[in-house]
Parts: sequence; structure tokens; C-alpha cells
Amino acid sequence: MSAELIDGRLIANYYREQLQETISELKSHDVTPGLAVILVGDNHASHTYVRMKRKACSKLGIHSELYQFEESLTQEELVDKIEELNGMDHIHGILVQLPLPQHINPITIIETISPSKDVDGFHPVSIGKMVTNQDTFYSCTPLGIIKMLEYEKIDISGKHVVILGRSNIVGKPAGQLFLNRDATVTYCHSKTVNLTDYTKKADILVSAVGKAKFIGAGDIKKGAVVIDVGMNRDEEGRLCGDVDFESAREAAGKITPVPGGVGPMTITMLLYNTVKSARWQLE
Ligand code: GUN
Repeated sequence: MSAELIDGRLIANYYREQLQETISELKSHDVTPGLAVILVGDNHASHTYVRMKRKACSKLGIHSELYQFEESLTQEELVDKIEELNGMDHIHGILVQLPLPQHINPITIIETISPSKDVDGFHPVSIGKMVTNQDTFYSCTPLGIIKMLEYEKIDISGKHVVILGRSNIVGKPAGQLFLNRDATVTYCHSKTVNLTDYTKKADILVSAVGKAKFIGAGDIKKGAVVIDVGMNRDEEGRLCGDVDFESAREAAGKITPVPGGVGPMTITMLLYNTVKSARWQLE
């Protein structure tokens, strides 16, 4: 058996076209969604991600502003900048690219962002609303995964979803969004004993551990849906996921590739949250 591919680029384009319509509607009310992106230091990957996010904004007609700072920026200076952006009406979303330099506490920074502009969905208010199943900004990668499954008409209710990884950005919120849709959720992580016993029982397996080719056919139940969040480099330096794609596709029913799977959905959900924020501020 060879798994069916879940094409993240195609699905992301579908949602971007829908967003385009909402943006046109907002513009007819003289509102242009606006995103402020804050980048501190010279982390190479962060620069690449920020460039990709801003390019996606520009393609859709979302206004974006980049605030770029040296590594030496103090926490107080960053807090002041965020407070200033919180008060700007044309800015509907504020994104502080992580990781931050060691001397800046990311929790303090995230908590400074107004919950009404928290398009990353990292603020404790957003997390609390998510856990209590209220409408809010949801973390972009988990939301992108759910939207992918919705597009593919894959039922979630009653399914056993196994999440590998417990990060605040992906693993934990992904499990919560699945639970909110009536899945039975198991979290696995670096201390899980006999990992394969769990992965083999997953109807939907989500891997976000950051280990190249960590999951193969032997870890997957026949016909399972496999979602690969990993962004790693293989021995030859090529981009690859947590899942050994060629092996896993022999067992899986549906599978996301890397690149071209979850990645384009994550950026699309940042656009989605920014547009959602602009609409909320119009209401
Ligand atoms: N660093 C890695 N992923 C993310 C993300 O989704 N948002 C932000 N702000 N920083 C990140």
C-alpha cells in the first residue's frame, strides 16, 4: 500500500483564496489587516521564517511592519515597543519571533502582548480560552493541522490521536484542539517508555519531535493518518521531517510530506489569525 499524499501547498492556497475575499471585504470598509513582526538578534532560521511570513502577508494585501533589533536590546525596551504597538489601531496582530536572546524572558514578553492582538495564540488568555473551548486565537501550527484534516474530510471525533512532542507551540495545543473535537488524545515525549506501543495504536499520528526520520513504517498502524511537523536536515543536508517518508508511506493511509506539508499551513494560519483580529476590531 502507498499512502495518499496530503498536499499542504494546495490546501494552504485554498484557505489563502478564502482569506483574500475577506481581506477585500475589510478593505471596502477601509480596514487593512496589519501585522507587526518583531525580530531580535541574528538567528538565521528566525530571519528566514520572518521573511517568509512577511512575503505571505504582502501577497495577500496584509500590511506588515518589521521591527528589527540588535541582540543587545533590553527586555524593558522590548516591553516598551510592544506596549506602543498594543495601542496602535492599524496593527491587528503582534508577532515576536522566538527564540529570544537569553537575557529576555519570553513569558514576560508574550504576556505583554495584548490578548486582542495575540495572533500566535501564545498568551495565557488565549491558552485558557482554548482549554475551555472558547473562540480565540489558536496556535498556528496546530490550527493548520486541524484545517488540513477538515479540508481532507478526515473525521476527528472518536479517533485515537497520538501526539509526539509536548512543546507549548505545537504538541500541547495540538492535543487540546483534537480533544476539543472529541478525539481521544495520547501525548508521548522523550521520556515515554515503549513509544511504538503508542504510535501503533494511533488513528492519527502527529509528530513534532525534531528528529530526522524518527518514525518509520514499523511505528504506524496500517491506514493511519500521519502528520509530520518536523523540520530537520538529513545526512545529506536536505530538508526532511520526523517521518521517514518512503518507509512510512507503505503503512500510512494518508501522509503529509516535508517540505510542502504542515509548513505552508502554519504561515496561512498566521494570516488567518491576523484577518480574524482585524474583523474582531471592526465588530
Ligand atoms: N518560532 C518558531 N515557531 C514560531 C512561531 O510559530 N511563532 C513565533 N513567534 N516564533 C516561532
